[in-house]
Amino acid sequence: MPRAPRRCGRSPLEEEVLEAVRPTPAQVRLLSGFYRMLKRRLEGCLESAGLRGAVEAEGSFAKGTLTSDKWELDVFVLVEGADRGWIARRGEALLLGCLEGLPAEARYAEHPYVTVKLMGMEADVVVAPKVSRPGEGGTGVERTPFHTRWVRGELESNPCLADDARLFKAFLKGIGAYGAETRVGGFSGLLAEVLTIYHGGFRGVIEAAARWRPGAYVDPRGVGDEATLRRRYPDSALLVPDPVDPSRNAAASVTRRRLAELVLAANAYLRRPCKLYFHPHAQAASPPARADPSRVVALVLEGDYAGEARDALWGRLSRLASWLAGGLEGEGFGAARWEVWTDEASTAIIAFELEHTSLPPLRLTRGPPAWSPERALGFIARRAQQGLPYTVTREGLLLGLRPRRHTLAHRALQALAARPDAPLPRGTRAARAEPPGSEASRLAAGLLDSSTPRWPRCLLDG
Ligand code: UTP
Ligand code: MN
Ligand code: MN
Repeated sequence: MPRAPRRCGRSPLEEEVLEAVRPTPAQVRLLSGFYRMLKRRLEGCLESAGLRGAVEAEGSFAKGTLTSDKWELDVFVLVEGADRGWIARRGEALLLGCLEGLPAEARYAEHPYVTVKLMGMEADVVVAPKVSRPGEGGTGVERTPFHTRWVRGELESNPCLADDARLFKAFLKGIGAYGAETRVGGFSGLLAEVLTIYHGGFRGVIEAAARWRPGAYVDPRGVGDEATLRRRYPDSALLVPDPVDPSRNAAASVTRRRLAELVLAANAYLRRPCKLYFHPHAQAASPPARADPSRVVALVLEGDYAGEARDALWGRLSRLASWLAGGLEGEGFGAARWEVWTDEASTAIIAFELEHTSLPPLRLTRGPPAWSPERALGFIARRAQQGLPYTVTREGLLLGLRPRRHTLAHRALQALAARPDAPLPRGTRAARAEPPGSEASRLAAGLLDSSTPRWPRCLLDG
């Protein structure tokens, strides 16, 4: 049987995936047209504002690592002589003024930027100081043009790498680990590129990732100072000195959970390669285990979340979810998985799939040892008063039944959420726990299904 040619050491399966992941020529043409229009506009506007500077494309469009799912541009307006304060005071108004007449919307981030949406395309337009070294400027975003240049240079010297970076991005997306936002806690586009470059391609980065442990250190240019970086980022699961600013960890966004998920998927892929590791194939497949709505409870939060920084809101929700899962576990309703979602405006939902959603009225409890007679007698007296049994084990420990505080999981969840120490996101007005079978529980089951990895299907025989 004739085999598809191996290009750049990629397998036929990987070549096939790439067909779906590379942007089409029409897509690149349309985005280029959009970019030229924006560039002309922004340059003209800088000039008439009496400002010196430059307009540049950054991001995957400029680096040649764009993927087919992205109809997106990143455009930077670099202003000479501007500093952090100037950008904060004047940046947003400058951009909105320059883009007047276009569907432009200011976005709140640490740094002012504006999104322009046109015919299904989207451009993030960012204003930043024009600096000669990545450390200058003090806003952080002025590193981006240096990233673009560095990645471009590396990709030019090895023509296989751009597609390999796309493949790795599609892999990260397929396993749910792509994105540096707190919502994901995963890998940025830049980090995916840097790792692909350092490990010499997709295969190399997957083989390396299969062996990563928390605290793994990867220095793409050999210019980082490991001890300093570790001291500065003691909690980072992965440490990668930024190639243009080595005192910064380019992998600071990666949580231990996402690292773990990549390690698992990389090991699985090396044993059982298949398309379900990759976006968009993963998203088209059904999850290997559907959430059973009779096991799913949901906490629905209502509040004013629009004012909160998005990353902070997602961070709080994820901390709340772990806290609630721990509480449910303590009450005997073990959570097998959970997931959070918010519209970032007025609603959030936390979905739990549980071992049990209802439990008998009594539960076993450990008492003190007989050699703490004071407490032991108290334990025995309470059993006698409630007419409940106890026993003394072979080790001399007391063991007995006690009434459960809650027999229904959603009631336990409601009580947990109402505790004064519950870490609810700021702005929350109401928290409502919904039982299995409710509308909210069906929604929650859908949420669990959509975020569950597809690749475990690849481990099945046949
Ligand atoms: P992106 O998140 O768009 O990544 O940020 P990417 O490499 O282009 O990857 P994909 O293909 O879109 O997923 C591009 C660069 O623009 C900066 C980021 O820091 C990153 O270096 N950026 C983007 C900002 O600084 N602010 C923004 O609001 C958006
Ligand atoms: Mn981008
Ligand atoms: Mn972007």
